[in-house]
Amino acid sequence: MPGRRAARSQSRLTRPALGFGLGLRADHYETILDRRPPVDWFEIISENYMVGGGKPLDYLDRIRADYPLVMHGVSLSIGGSDPLDRDYLGGLGELARRIEPAWISDHLCWTSLGGINMHDLLPLPHTETALKHVVDRIGQVQDALGRRLVIENVSSYVSYVDSAVPEWEFLAEVANRADCLILLDVNNIYVSAYNHEFDALRYLDHVPAHRVQQIHLAGHSNEGAYIVDTHDHPVIDPVFALYGEAVRRFGPISTMIERDANIPPLDELLAELDRARAVAAAALPKVRT
Ligand SMILES: [Fe+2]
Repeated sequence: MPGRRAARSQSRLTRPALGFGLGLRADHYETILDRRPPVDWFEIISENYMVGGGKPLDYLDRIRADYPLVMHGVSLSIGGSDPLDRDYLGGLGELARRIEPAWISDHLCWTSLGGINMHDLLPLPHTETALKHVVDRIGQVQDALGRRLVIENVSSYVSYVDSAVPEWEFLAEVANRADCLILLDVNNIYVSAYNHEFDALRYLDHVPAHRVQQIHLAGHSNEGAYIVDTHDHPVIDPVFALYGEAVRRFGPISTMIERDANIPPLDELLAELDRARAVAAAALPKVRT
């Protein structure tokens, strides 16, 4: 519907920065409710709460009473060739009405084929055909949700001979043409730069700064010849350094740490988040008072 898209493009592009957040994980529900730790916001995995009721939703409502939330999905399959799943979009909208997230994100990838969800974030070929396809689908999702979608760059282990442009150009073109926002995963840039031997700073230089809504930081597993994006280790020093470069370019963007396996006590993640705060503060120009 062109009218709604036009109305959206006249509105403020990015939402205000929330500060420093963490991925909400079930291991920490009780600690969060008991201690109300100094986390500015939490990101939830949308699919974990797209249910009719039960304990996770109850925890979520109670945590939402004290913290801003953002929704992060893993099965939109925005680049896939299956039709968009309207039931899934309806479920996303229903959850959004319940918790009023600051924004909703998913990945620039495909995850399903022939109705089968492969539970993996698979990269797209960087071609004009794929570009038009994904831009059209992001438009459909934005119309269904009534808000801009935030899309995340994924880690990759393969590339396509058909790709005509590097990933950073493809990402920028998708975001500009679809008029959507970007969740920049700095660890994913590091992982893909290592695996495909490109310059991570060059990637950052080509990201449209005014579209960066959120940053992810995470750990990974270095297997020597390649890196696997496992999210089961602390963030390494070079990824923090790359994060500093991102903050220098994009300013104080809402930043969070993703830990999906080998989940430590909350205090360890809080300490890691303090390091992100320190890296960001050092990267930003000093404000004179
Ligand atoms: Fe991520």
